[in-house]
Amino acid sequence: MIKQAIIPLAGLGTRLLPLTSVFAKELLPINGKPGIEYILDECIEAGIKEVIFIISEKKKMIKKYFYNDSFYKKILKKKKDSRISKEYKKILKYKKLIKFVYQNKPLGTGDAVLKTKKYIKDNFFLMLLPDDLIIKKNCSKSMIRIHNLYKSSVMASMKVDKKSVSRWGIYKLDKKIDKNNYFIKDVIEKPSIKTAPSNKAVIGRYILPKKIFSKLSKQKPGKGGEIHITDSIQSLIKDNKKFIAHNFSGKYLDCGSMSGYIKSTLEIAKI
Ligand code: G1P
Repeated sequence: MIKQAIIPLAGLGTRLLPLTSVFAKELLPINGKPGIEYILDECIEAGIKEVIFIISEKKKMIKKYFYNDSFYKKILKKKKDSRISKEYKKILKYKKLIKFVYQNKPLGTGDAVLKTKKYIKDNFFLMLLPDDLIIKKNCSKSMIRIHNLYKSSVMASMKVDKKSVSRWGIYKLDKKIDKNNYFIKDVIEKPSIKTAPSNKAVIGRYILPKKIFSKLSKQKPGKGGEIHITDSIQSLIKDNKKFIAHNFSGKYLDCGSMSGYIKSTLEIAKI
Protein backbone atom coordinates (compact mmCIF):
# COMPACT_ATOMS: atom_id res chain seq x y z
CA MET A 1 0.00 0.00 0.00
CA ILE A 2 1.26 3.50 -0.80
CA LYS A 3 0.45 5.71 2.18
CA GLN A 4 3.15 8.40 2.11
CA ALA A 5 3.84 11.08 -0.49
CA ILE A 6 6.66 13.58 -0.73
CA ILE A 7 6.60 16.92 -2.55
CA PRO A 8 9.83 18.87 -3.28
CA LEU A 9 8.99 22.55 -2.74
CA ALA A 10 12.36 24.18 -2.24
CA GLY A 11 12.82 25.15 -5.91
CA LEU A 12 13.48 28.81 -6.65
CA GLY A 13 10.87 29.11 -9.40
CA THR A 14 13.00 31.29 -11.66
CA ARG A 15 10.77 30.49 -14.66
CA LEU A 16 8.01 32.42 -12.88
CA LEU A 17 9.97 35.56 -12.01
CA PRO A 18 9.14 38.28 -11.05
CA LEU A 19 6.19 36.67 -9.18
CA THR A 20 8.51 34.26 -7.36
CA SER A 21 10.82 37.03 -6.15
CA VAL A 22 8.38 37.51 -3.25
CA PHE A 23 5.95 34.59 -3.52
CA ALA A 24 6.14 30.78 -3.43
CA LYS A 25 5.05 29.58 -6.86
CA GLU A 26 3.13 26.67 -5.33
CA LEU A 27 0.82 29.15 -3.58
CA LEU A 28 0.02 31.07 -6.76
CA PRO A 29 -3.70 30.72 -7.39
CA ILE A 30 -4.91 28.74 -10.35
CA ASN A 31 -8.54 29.74 -10.83
CA GLY A 32 -8.67 31.00 -7.22
CA LYS A 33 -7.00 27.97 -5.59
CA PRO A 34 -3.27 27.58 -4.83
CA GLY A 35 -1.54 25.09 -7.11
CA ILE A 36 -0.37 23.01 -4.12
CA GLU A 37 -4.00 22.35 -3.09
CA TYR A 38 -4.68 20.60 -6.42
CA ILE A 39 -1.71 18.36 -5.69
CA LEU A 40 -2.90 17.68 -2.11
CA ASP A 41 -6.39 16.85 -3.35
CA GLU A 42 -4.89 14.37 -5.81
CA CYS A 43 -2.99 12.73 -2.91
CA ILE A 44 -6.04 12.55 -0.62
CA GLU A 45 -8.21 11.05 -3.36
CA ALA A 46 -5.49 8.49 -4.06
CA GLY A 47 -5.58 7.31 -0.41
CA ILE A 48 -2.38 9.02 0.81
CA LYS A 49 -2.29 9.47 4.62
CA GLU A 50 0.88 11.55 5.06
CA VAL A 51 2.49 14.15 2.81
CA ILE A 52 6.06 15.33 3.40
CA PHE A 53 6.77 18.84 2.14
CA ILE A 54 10.42 19.56 1.41
CA ILE A 55 10.72 23.33 1.84
CA SER A 56 13.52 25.81 2.51
CA GLU A 57 13.92 28.83 4.79
CA LYS A 58 13.11 30.97 1.74
CA LYS A 59 9.86 29.07 1.16
CA LYS A 60 8.62 29.17 4.78
CA MET A 61 5.58 31.03 3.49
CA ILE A 62 4.22 27.62 2.49
CA LYS A 63 4.27 26.43 6.10
CA LYS A 64 2.66 29.66 7.24
CA TYR A 65 -0.20 29.13 4.79
CA PHE A 66 -1.15 25.95 6.65
CA TYR A 67 -0.29 27.20 10.16
CA ASN A 68 -2.19 30.46 10.42
CA ASP A 69 -4.69 29.22 13.03
CA SER A 70 -4.70 32.18 15.41
CA PHE A 71 -5.28 34.54 12.48
CA TYR A 72 -8.30 32.53 11.29
CA LYS A 73 -9.69 32.15 14.81
CA LYS A 74 -9.52 35.92 15.37
CA ILE A 75 -11.22 36.69 12.06
CA LEU A 76 -13.92 34.07 12.51
CA LYS A 77 -14.68 35.32 16.05
CA LYS A 78 -15.33 38.82 14.73
CA LYS A 79 -17.03 37.84 11.54
CA LYS A 80 -19.27 34.84 10.89
CA ASP A 81 -18.36 34.24 7.29
CA SER A 82 -19.28 30.80 5.97
CA ARG A 83 -16.84 30.99 3.06
CA ILE A 84 -13.85 31.76 5.30
CA SER A 85 -14.95 29.13 7.81
CA LYS A 86 -15.17 26.51 5.04
CA GLU A 87 -11.73 27.45 3.70
CA TYR A 88 -10.22 27.28 7.19
CA LYS A 89 -11.69 23.80 7.74
CA LYS A 90 -10.13 22.72 4.46
CA ILE A 91 -6.74 24.08 5.52
CA LEU A 92 -7.01 22.24 8.86
CA LYS A 93 -7.69 19.02 6.95
CA TYR A 94 -4.55 19.54 4.83
CA LYS A 95 -2.49 20.52 7.90
CA LYS A 96 -3.22 17.19 9.62
CA LEU A 97 -1.65 15.42 6.65
CA ILE A 98 1.52 17.48 6.22
CA LYS A 99 5.01 17.15 7.71
CA PHE A 100 7.86 19.54 6.85
CA VAL A 101 11.52 18.85 6.17
CA TYR A 102 14.13 21.34 4.97
CA GLN A 103 16.42 21.54 1.96
CA ASN A 104 18.15 24.88 2.28
CA LYS A 105 20.51 24.51 -0.67
CA PRO A 106 18.92 23.93 -4.08
CA LEU A 107 21.06 20.91 -4.98
CA GLY A 108 18.43 19.14 -7.08
CA THR A 109 15.42 16.84 -6.83
CA GLY A 110 17.54 13.85 -5.80
CA ASP A 111 18.96 15.79 -2.85
CA ALA A 112 15.42 16.87 -1.88
CA VAL A 113 14.26 13.23 -1.83
CA LEU A 114 17.22 12.26 0.35
CA LYS A 115 16.04 14.72 3.03
CA THR A 116 12.94 12.57 3.62
CA LYS A 117 14.89 9.34 4.23
CA LYS A 118 14.25 8.93 7.94
CA TYR A 119 10.51 9.57 7.62
CA ILE A 120 9.69 6.97 4.95
CA LYS A 121 8.11 3.93 6.60
CA ASP A 122 7.06 1.57 3.81
CA ASN A 123 8.96 -0.02 0.94
CA PHE A 124 7.44 2.35 -1.63
CA PHE A 125 6.30 5.98 -1.58
CA LEU A 126 4.82 8.49 -3.99
CA MET A 127 6.55 11.67 -5.18
CA LEU A 128 4.71 14.51 -6.91
CA LEU A 129 6.45 17.46 -8.58
CA PRO A 130 4.31 20.54 -7.92
CA ASP A 131 4.96 22.18 -11.31
CA ASP A 132 3.17 19.29 -13.01
CA LEU A 133 -0.59 19.43 -12.66
CA ILE A 134 -2.58 16.57 -14.10
CA ILE A 135 -6.29 17.24 -14.27
CA LYS A 136 -9.45 15.32 -15.25
CA LYS A 137 -8.10 11.93 -14.11
CA ASN A 138 -6.20 11.18 -10.91
CA CYS A 139 -2.75 10.11 -12.15
CA SER A 140 -1.46 9.08 -8.69
CA LYS A 141 -4.48 6.83 -8.18
CA SER A 142 -3.95 5.07 -11.54
CA MET A 143 -0.24 4.63 -10.78
CA ILE A 144 -0.97 3.15 -7.34
CA ARG A 145 -3.28 0.64 -9.03
CA ILE A 146 -0.45 -0.39 -11.40
CA HIS A 147 1.98 -0.60 -8.49
CA ASN A 148 -0.39 -2.87 -6.57
CA LEU A 149 -0.69 -5.18 -9.59
CA TYR A 150 3.03 -5.46 -10.44
CA LYS A 151 4.67 -4.58 -7.08
CA SER A 152 7.16 -2.40 -8.94
CA SER A 153 8.07 1.27 -9.19
CA VAL A 154 5.97 3.39 -11.55
CA MET A 155 6.57 6.75 -13.25
CA ALA A 156 4.20 8.91 -15.27
CA SER A 157 4.94 9.16 -18.97
CA MET A 158 3.86 11.38 -21.83
CA LYS A 159 4.84 11.78 -25.48
CA VAL A 160 6.51 15.16 -26.05
CA ASP A 161 7.63 17.12 -29.08
CA LYS A 162 10.95 15.68 -30.32
CA LYS A 163 12.45 19.16 -30.32
CA SER A 164 11.83 19.52 -26.56
CA VAL A 165 13.51 16.31 -25.29
CA SER A 166 16.34 18.23 -23.59
CA ARG A 167 13.78 19.71 -21.16
CA TRP A 168 12.78 16.30 -19.72
CA GLY A 169 13.85 12.95 -18.37
CA ILE A 170 13.49 10.64 -21.39
CA TYR A 171 12.69 6.90 -21.45
CA LYS A 172 13.94 4.03 -23.47
CA LEU A 173 11.10 1.55 -23.20
CA ASP A 174 11.33 -2.21 -22.84
CA LYS A 175 8.56 -4.84 -22.86
CA LYS A 176 4.96 -3.70 -23.29
CA ILE A 177 2.61 -4.68 -20.45
CA ASP A 178 -0.52 -3.22 -22.02
CA LYS A 179 -1.57 -0.18 -24.05
CA ASN A 180 -0.64 2.28 -21.30
CA ASN A 181 2.14 0.54 -19.38
CA TYR A 182 5.68 -0.43 -20.36
CA PHE A 183 8.72 -1.62 -18.49
CA ILE A 184 11.56 0.91 -18.66
CA LYS A 185 14.94 -0.04 -20.07
CA ASP A 186 16.69 3.30 -19.50
CA VAL A 187 15.90 6.78 -18.31
CA ILE A 188 18.15 9.73 -19.13
CA GLU A 189 17.94 13.21 -17.66
CA LYS A 190 17.57 15.97 -20.26
CA PRO A 191 19.36 14.32 -23.23
CA SER A 192 20.22 16.21 -26.41
CA ILE A 193 18.01 15.60 -29.47
CA LYS A 194 20.84 13.49 -30.89
CA THR A 195 21.22 11.19 -27.88
CA ALA A 196 17.54 10.94 -26.81
CA PRO A 197 16.36 7.32 -27.06
CA SER A 198 12.70 8.37 -27.65
CA ASN A 199 10.29 11.24 -27.19
CA LYS A 200 8.57 9.67 -24.14
CA ALA A 201 9.12 11.96 -21.18
CA VAL A 202 9.02 11.57 -17.41
CA ILE A 203 6.22 13.65 -15.89
CA GLY A 204 6.31 14.55 -12.20
CA ARG A 205 4.63 11.54 -10.58
CA TYR A 206 6.82 8.74 -9.26
CA ILE A 207 6.25 5.65 -7.11
CA LEU A 208 9.75 5.05 -5.76
CA PRO A 209 11.27 2.24 -3.71
CA LYS A 210 12.91 2.91 -0.37
CA LYS A 211 16.08 1.45 -1.95
CA ILE A 212 16.48 4.73 -3.85
CA PHE A 213 17.96 6.32 -0.69
CA SER A 214 21.12 4.23 -0.75
CA LYS A 215 21.62 5.18 -4.42
CA LEU A 216 20.97 8.84 -3.68
CA SER A 217 23.46 9.01 -0.85
CA LYS A 218 26.17 7.98 -3.33
CA GLN A 219 24.81 9.91 -6.32
CA LYS A 220 27.25 12.28 -8.05
CA PRO A 221 25.92 15.57 -9.44
CA GLY A 222 24.72 15.23 -13.04
CA LYS A 223 23.29 17.70 -15.59
CA GLY A 224 23.69 21.31 -14.42
CA GLY A 225 25.63 20.18 -11.34
CA GLU A 226 22.45 18.93 -9.60
CA ILE A 227 21.68 15.60 -7.93
CA HIS A 228 18.98 14.15 -10.17
CA ILE A 229 16.48 11.55 -9.05
CA THR A 230 16.55 10.30 -12.66
CA ASP A 231 20.21 9.25 -12.34
CA SER A 232 19.51 7.16 -9.22
CA ILE A 233 16.48 5.59 -10.92
CA GLN A 234 18.67 4.65 -13.89
CA SER A 235 21.14 3.09 -11.48
CA LEU A 236 18.35 0.97 -9.88
CA ILE A 237 17.14 -0.11 -13.35
CA LYS A 238 20.70 -1.27 -14.10
CA ASP A 239 20.49 -3.37 -10.90
CA ASN A 240 17.43 -5.07 -12.46
CA LYS A 241 14.86 -3.26 -10.34
CA LYS A 242 11.59 -2.99 -12.27
CA PHE A 243 10.25 0.42 -13.23
CA ILE A 244 7.05 0.91 -15.22
CA ALA A 245 6.26 3.92 -17.42
CA HIS A 246 2.55 4.70 -17.15
CA ASN A 247 0.92 6.73 -19.93
CA PHE A 248 -1.61 8.68 -17.92
CA SER A 249 -4.94 9.66 -19.40
CA GLY A 250 -5.49 13.00 -17.61
CA LYS A 251 -4.55 16.39 -19.03
CA TYR A 252 -1.05 17.66 -18.27
CA LEU A 253 -0.52 21.33 -17.32
CA ASP A 254 2.97 22.79 -16.80
CA CYS A 255 2.53 25.34 -14.02
CA GLY A 256 6.22 26.05 -13.65
CA SER A 257 6.56 28.36 -16.65
CA MET A 258 4.73 31.64 -17.16
CA SER A 259 2.93 30.59 -20.35
CA GLY A 260 2.03 27.21 -18.82
CA TYR A 261 0.80 28.86 -15.63
CA ILE A 262 -1.49 31.20 -17.55
CA LYS A 263 -2.77 28.30 -19.68
CA SER A 264 -3.46 26.24 -16.53
CA THR A 265 -5.79 28.90 -15.20
CA LEU A 266 -7.71 28.96 -18.48
CA GLU A 267 -7.93 25.15 -18.70
CA ILE A 268 -9.06 24.70 -15.09
CA ALA A 269 -11.66 27.45 -15.46
CA LYS A 270 -13.23 25.40 -18.27
CA ILE A 271 -13.89 22.34 -16.08
C1 G1P B 1 12.09 17.24 -13.51
C2 G1P B 1 12.79 15.91 -13.77
C3 G1P B 1 12.62 15.49 -15.22
C4 G1P B 1 11.13 15.44 -15.56
C5 G1P B 1 10.46 16.79 -15.23
C6 G1P B 1 8.96 16.70 -15.38
O1 G1P B 1 12.77 18.24 -14.24
O2 G1P B 1 14.16 16.04 -13.44
O3 G1P B 1 13.19 14.23 -15.42
O4 G1P B 1 10.95 15.13 -16.92
O5 G1P B 1 10.74 17.18 -13.88
O6 G1P B 1 8.36 17.95 -15.19
P1 G1P B 1 12.65 19.83 -13.89
O7 G1P B 1 11.25 20.24 -14.27
O8 G1P B 1 12.89 19.93 -12.42
O9 G1P B 1 13.69 20.49 -14.73
